[in-house]
Amino acid sequence: MPVSPARTVAFEILLRVEREESYASELLHSDRLAELSSRDHGLATELVMGVLRWQSLLDQRLAAASSQKLERLDDEVLAALRLGVYQLQFLSRVPAHAAIFESVELVKSARKRSAAPFANAVLRTIAGAGAEDILPEHILTKISKSPDSITLARNAAHPLWLVQRWTERYGLEAARQICAHDQMVPETAIHIHDNQVDAELVAAGVELSPGRLLSAARRVLAGDVTGTCAYREGRVSIQDEASQLVALLPGRGEMILDCCAAPGSKTALLARRNPLAKVFATELHPHRARLLRHLSRLPNVHVVAADARHLPFSCAFDRILADVPCSGTGTLARNPEIKWRLKATDLHDLQSRQIAILKSALAQLAMGGRLVYSTCSLEHEENEAVVEAALDGTVAFKVADLKGELEQLLQSGEMCWEDIASLLAAPYLRTIPGVHPCDGFFAAMIERG
Ligand SMILES: C[S@@+](CC[C@H](N)C(=O)[O-])C[C@H]1O[C@@H](n2cnc3c(N)ncnc32)[C@H](O)[C@@H]1O
Repeated sequence: MPVSPARTVAFEILLRVEREESYASELLHSDRLAELSSRDHGLATELVMGVLRWQSLLDQRLAAASSQKLERLDDEVLAALRLGVYQLQFLSRVPAHAAIFESVELVKSARKRSAAPFANAVLRTIAGAGAEDILPEHILTKISKSPDSITLARNAAHPLWLVQRWTERYGLEAARQICAHDQMVPETAIHIHDNQVDAELVAAGVELSPGRLLSAARRVLAGDVTGTCAYREGRVSIQDEASQLVALLPGRGEMILDCCAAPGSKTALLARRNPLAKVFATELHPHRARLLRHLSRLPNVHVVAADARHLPFSCAFDRILADVPCSGTGTLARNPEIKWRLKATDLHDLQSRQIAILKSALAQLAMGGRLVYSTCSLEHEENEAVVEAALDGTVAFKVADLKGELEQLLQSGEMCWEDIASLLAAPYLRTIPGVHPCDGFFAAMIERG
């Protein structure tokens, strides 16, 4: 009997994530998956994301049942075992015999036939031991009661070094909330670019509820937004609410630069909010610059493939967004593989690049202009430290307190989250996943005086 399409695809994606440093969420939306039924697509997504979210906990189970060290297993065997143990422990609707059989078949189909009896024995041992303590409801209680970083990291399947630094910076309770949030399927948020879209989406079977931070945001409770006309025509975009909020911060301008722009969700929001402005969107990587092409239907957006450290403009901009490449630790619920790849030393490499981009962007800022620096990282090195380093020794620029801007957004009705103080780590914006109903974002507003 062949392995089911959903498990075959999940297996291939897990191998690519491991070997190529690819992002699971991008692979799960690639053309290759268009052939899958929506049910199979849903199962493949659940398997890939589940395995990546719970990887260290799954590996603990495998190590306890395995006669061999996991580090010595071939990638294919380990990926098939992780898929098997995830289904055994987290998907009570999948019968144990089916989970075991399909993982063993995956091992065989990957030409690792000699490892099939081993995989079978490991998974049977785990199935025999039961799943009581690891089912999601138990584990979330364990996360919320973890008394220290070490226990929290183990219960919540996170690397200890990340949990330790969040506990030091934000406190143990916030670290528990971040970890619990990262381990759940995140809500899908959308931005509505025109008010008629609501009725259109509902008619297309999409169930919505109001945004929590922003009036033009909605949360998708059920249905497929990507299959609607409004999505294809760009009148609605899928975008986390904190990301939408960051795109509102540059405000109104005439000459706008978005210097790290792909895939373009913030560019689209900037361009639609400033229809009379010229919006330049630069992106380093040509394949990612291609992602920006769908924005070319907005008449005021001009896409330029360029390195933001050496911007090719002789003009000045009155509004700039520098949404720089970062570790992404504020988005682990959507990108769980990041937590297994990232090393503490990476933060310093990222920081050097972020400082170079910010300095280069500041050089393009007009007198009286405003630049917003942002990341989806929870790490000080990529946030406050970058702003301080880039402004060190300059007198032309000052950091503005974002409180005033948030108050204006609340007054204008664009923001509906009333507890402004909770969003601020003065003078900066700071959202924390699990504490706030969104991804973790940081933003600083810099003005040229
Ligand atoms: C955080 S993402 C931007 C997300 C985007 N602002 C959005 O909201 O859709 C950072 C982007 O910067 C790009 N990038 C990385 N280094 C760059 C550089 N030196 N110059 C320009 N873009 C760069 C990355 O390829 C990535 O697409």
